[in-house]
Amino acid sequence: GKYRVISTKPMPGTRWINLLVEQDCRVEICTEKKTILSVDDIIALIGNKCDGVIGQLTEDWGDTLFAALSRAGGKAFSNMAVGYNNVDVNAANKYGVAVGNTPGVLTETTAELAASLSLAAARRIVEADEFMRAGLYDGWLPHLFVGNLLKGQTVGVIGAGRIGSAYARMMVEGFKMNLIYYDLYQSTRLEKFVTAYGEFLKSNGEQPVYWKRASSMEEVLREADVISLHPILDKTTYHLINKDSLATMKKEAILVNCSRGPVVDEVALVEHLKQNPMFRVGLDVFEDEPFMKPGLAEMKNAVVVPHIASASKWTREGMATLAALNVLGKIKGYPIWGDPNRVEPFLNENTPPPA
Ligand code: GLV
Ligand code: GLV
Repeated sequence: GKYRVISTKPMPGTRWINLLVEQDCRVEICTEKKTILSVDDIIALIGNKCDGVIGQLTEDWGDTLFAALSRAGGKAFSNMAVGYNNVDVNAANKYGVAVGNTPGVLTETTAELAASLSLAAARRIVEADEFMRAGLYDGWLPHLFVGNLLKGQTVGVIGAGRIGSAYARMMVEGFKMNLIYYDLYQSTRLEKFVTAYGEFLKSNGEQPVYWKRASSMEEVLREADVISLHPILDKTTYHLINKDSLATMKKEAILVNCSRGPVVDEVALVEHLKQNPMFRVGLDVFEDEPFMKPGLAEMKNAVVVPHIASASKWTREGMATLAALNVLGKIKGYPIWGDPNRVEPFLNENTPPPA
């Protein structure tokens, strides 16, 4: 191969490798056993000739790494993730490195996990599972693991981009929930969907569903029964959910986070979970991954999973393929997926999906 492309992790499937190899690339996959590579580890991988890198969200792609990549002749970097808060895009551009991410292929997979966590929290599935396995079930009881009925309740979506909108549609159509959403951008497609579904229910003689675009995030926090967070992580969304916003929510609300850990003040959340046993939470992401803040692991009203929202086979192979195409497109000078230097400033349904 004429070009040297590095992947900092083995990735699912072989399509991404074949795509690169067919186009003059030699692919080197780092098989280092430790999960999170340091900046120094990656500098060593890059060496003195490297045309492009596929990296992971656990890595700190800042000035140091882009300088090293540029010195090695590199022009392209793709995160194997839609989120890119681990990437300093300005630094990359300064060194002439294009940056790509992998939107689109993980929309439904991630929304499905947010829906799973919503249901797991509402119906206390993990607690009930632990109870069964512990041999504590000694007969049906009217009050055993009573949870929340979603039908007719209101789902609140904060950040109605691709993933937030897909989640909203699942919850509205799947469970006949009303929708309140907050986003800087109006999501007319989502509004039309809920309107049409409400009409359908009415014509069926059923209670219709309603939607509302909130004028503030507080409005969502006050009114929703299930709240799912789908913003990007940046300075404006750091600790978006804090002590005050938690206090604004209903005492029996459910909070779901499949975005980025630091969107929630996790210390405040643990305290809130302690004070409000009927408040439940479903978390895929954490402030200090891979760690949880003290006390969270002991909370029965929390369901926690290890950042697996995009973890379906189809999606992970798709992410790997997109990441390879991003790098390849830049190296070969043809924009397969649009300009690989196309990290989006804001993920919203109104942003045209990649062609
Ligand atoms: C995963 O967290 C992603 O951003 O793709
Ligand atoms: C519960 O199992 C019921 O039959 O109501």
